[in-house]
Amino acid sequence: VTLDRPTVRNAINAAMREDLPRAIRAADANPDVRAIVIRGAGPKAFCAGADIREFTPPSSLTASRQAKQSNRWLDALALVGKPTIAAIHGYCLGGGLEIALACDIRIAADDAIIALPEVTLGIIPGAGGTQRLPRAIGLGPALRLMLTGERIDAQEAYRIGLVSKVVKAADLDLTWGKLGEQLSEAAPRALAYTKEAARRGAEMSLEDGLRLEADLSTLIQGTRDRIEGASAFRERRKPVYLGD
Ligand code: CAA
Repeated sequence: VTLDRPTVRNAINAAMREDLPRAIRAADANPDVRAIVIRGAGPKAFCAGADIREFTPPSSLTASRQAKQSNRWLDALALVGKPTIAAIHGYCLGGGLEIALACDIRIAADDAIIALPEVTLGIIPGAGGTQRLPRAIGLGPALRLMLTGERIDAQEAYRIGLVSKVVKAADLDLTWGKLGEQLSEAAPRALAYTKEAARRGAEMSLEDGLRLEADLSTLIQGTRDRIEGASAFRERRKPVYLGD
């Protein structure tokens, strides 16, 4: 899925807030899709955040309430069963980083510049950033980034665990392509259940999380892909997983 407004550094306007979740849900529903990659069009940016030109006072209480609920527009990304990858290059600011934070895996080109500059604009990271960044990298480092709005480069993002891999900018497409292929070869339901156990479990007590893991582990026993995995191992061949 390409964020495609390169002349404004792929800034997120109202249409994108509707289109991105729709595209993600469509990809999730498409049986030919095994992994979802989000990237930015053009050489300069993954995404420079919310379209600042759309920042106007809300026209009514209803509009204000709606705006407050707008932090949920990225839920689709966090909740789909298929693995999601953010392939970050250039500027990845504000809402752009919040998109990446909703993804399962973040990889970055060495030209990436990453920040949550909201406080410098008099607002807060309001598309999940205040919640997802501390959960991704810990409270202290997250507060440093959010309270200062400081820009960090790809290496620093790697050092603090915000991205899991840094590659040369010219190699980014190849890298997400390979990662996508690797994920496409895995059993789709195993990926979905692993994701569910880890994501939902992170919000639970260890006891409840282990119960959820046990339930999903039981459910996966009934899948044909589990039989295929074991058969392929015995027959010394690559498994062919069909997702059931
Ligand atoms: N909103 C609207 N337009 C943007 C934009 C944004 N977030 N970011 C860049 N643009 C536009 C610029 O206005 C400019 O448009 P014109 O050509 O019409 O003047 C064009 O994109 C290119 O921008 P620059 O000339 O500045 O290009 P650059 O490559 O030198 O710099 C930049 C890029 C560092 C991203 C700089 O444009 C910038 O600082 N942008 C704002 C970034 C920002 O503060 N984002 C956070 C927004 S708040 C948020 O995201 C909150 C949320 O979701 C809840």
